[in-house]
Amino acid sequence: MSTSSIHPLQEKFNELSRKNAEALLGGGEKRIAQQHAKGKLTARERVQLLLDEGSFEELDKFVTHRAKDFGLDKEHYLGDGVVTGYGTVQGRLVYVFSQDFTVFGGSLSETFAEKIVKVMDLAMKNGAPVIGLNDSGGARIQEGVVSLGGYADIFYRNVMASGVVPQISAIMGPCAGGAVYSPAMTDFIFMVENTSFMFVTGPNVVKTVTHEEVTSEELGGASTHSSKSGVTHFACANEVECINQIKQLLSYLPQNCEDDAPRAPYQPGNEARPALNDVIPANPNQPYDMREVITGVVDENSFFEVHKNFAENIVVGFARLAGRSIGIVGNQPAALAGVLDINSSVKAARFVRLCDSFNVPLLVLEDVPGFLPGTDQEWRGIITNGAKLLYAFSEATVPRVTVITRKAYGGAYDVMNSKHIGADMNYAWPTAEIAVMGAKGAAEIIFKKEISEAANPEAKLAEKVEEYTKKFATPYRAAQRGYIDEVIMPEQTREKLIRAFQMLENKVAVLPKKKHGNIPL
Ligand code: HXC
Repeated sequence: MSTSSIHPLQEKFNELSRKNAEALLGGGEKRIAQQHAKGKLTARERVQLLLDEGSFEELDKFVTHRAKDFGLDKEHYLGDGVVTGYGTVQGRLVYVFSQDFTVFGGSLSETFAEKIVKVMDLAMKNGAPVIGLNDSGGARIQEGVVSLGGYADIFYRNVMASGVVPQISAIMGPCAGGAVYSPAMTDFIFMVENTSFMFVTGPNVVKTVTHEEVTSEELGGASTHSSKSGVTHFACANEVECINQIKQLLSYLPQNCEDDAPRAPYQPGNEARPALNDVIPANPNQPYDMREVITGVVDENSFFEVHKNFAENIVVGFARLAGRSIGIVGNQPAALAGVLDINSSVKAARFVRLCDSFNVPLLVLEDVPGFLPGTDQEWRGIITNGAKLLYAFSEATVPRVTVITRKAYGGAYDVMNSKHIGADMNYAWPTAEIAVMGAKGAAEIIFKKEISEAANPEAKLAEKVEEYTKKFATPYRAAQRGYIDEVIMPEQTREKLIRAFQMLENKVAVLPKKKHGNIPL
């Protein structure tokens, strides 16, 4: 082709690409330097890091905004502040958009939205994940309602795509308004410590409206959202770690809801894990770390924890068992004795629904003393929020297996994937205590009169606690009823689980015909 036949736009692109592809979108090396000076990568560098080398196919790079007001007609950047397209991660197709803060603060214009909508529609049609790398001040203020409309077009697709293809958001700069609401409707949010923020309104607006003085970091930094609000699932030390973790997460997920997650190679061997016999302390009130049980059961180094810093009294995450991806929900005796409260119920419920949407089988490791009592929890709605977890387990149709390691008290026994709400296989260790409540509380209630009338009430209480413990604080009553399929030694757990999940591999469970259920939101 002779040079003269190249369209001027293509020519400009080719020339800039040779010098620096980034300059085309960001509007120059100065802008790239600005981004680097803030400790951030550019939109294109992020895409390059995420995708397999040479796999990126960019779309819509000649698109520019159509706005005319506030002098915008004189300022155009090819691509209009967002890099979009598709490529592969570990050989698997993904769609990606990466917002460029150096163009109008990464704010979303009408055309910017159209580019994102295009990749989302392609992802839905072709059944592959969408990964959004967000670095944006929200709706482009100069464009008014068309920008708001653009966001709504994206929000609508976030909802339509929910449960169809995995949607993953990384927050890689200061994100406000629509730039946080779209991620909020995706399956996972990653944030980068110190350089990323999420808020509906920033510190200045907060000060004006509530007279509260707060820094961006306190209001919406990675540490705030990973531990206090739970908005983000992952807080990463830097952008490279963030992108690596996204890749790792993808390895546990299928491409879409009709697919299964990829399998890692697995060589059957000796599956006994004697170390598990020593995890439960002799004193039933002493804590231990449920992660010890998890790592003792699953394939080596395969546990990938989600929402680690939020509601630490429950542990959720992915792992592999005999090479197959599973989702794990475990009560955590090392934090608040593993009690179920509002935050842990909501955290686990969302994870259960995610796994169920994407055909990831569920393993529940149970040691739970019940729901957290008190006015704070009651007034903030532990009833409705606890019900979310009960609901989520009950409607999940993926293979579901439970192992009760120690306490399974009260309503929490029902909620934590009991047989009664549809679990497929329920195991218990000999240390399991399956009862309406702990022995002391139970004895104090049912033997109240006897104890108070005894010559030595304390000795009577101890005697009754002992009697109750022998009768109820075991797994055998439940096993006699078939609520527990088998009482197993801890060391056998891995082997039993491998066999159970293999047995359940072709499970078919169909929910009653309905439009959709009404989870207590
Ligand atoms: C147009 C914007 C912009 C926006 C930032 N810029 N946000 N331009 N529309 N929304 C521009 C700035 O003018 C500036 O341009 C450049 O981007 C960098 O912005 P700075 O403020 O200098 O950066 P920083 O100090 O890092 O602060 C980033 C920020 C702040 C926290 C994002 O810019 C900010 O608060 N922006 C507004 C956020 C907002 O209220 N958005 C609308 C939300 S409503 P120059 O030319 O000086 O480099 C919304 C509706 C969706 O999104 C509906 C939700 C349900």
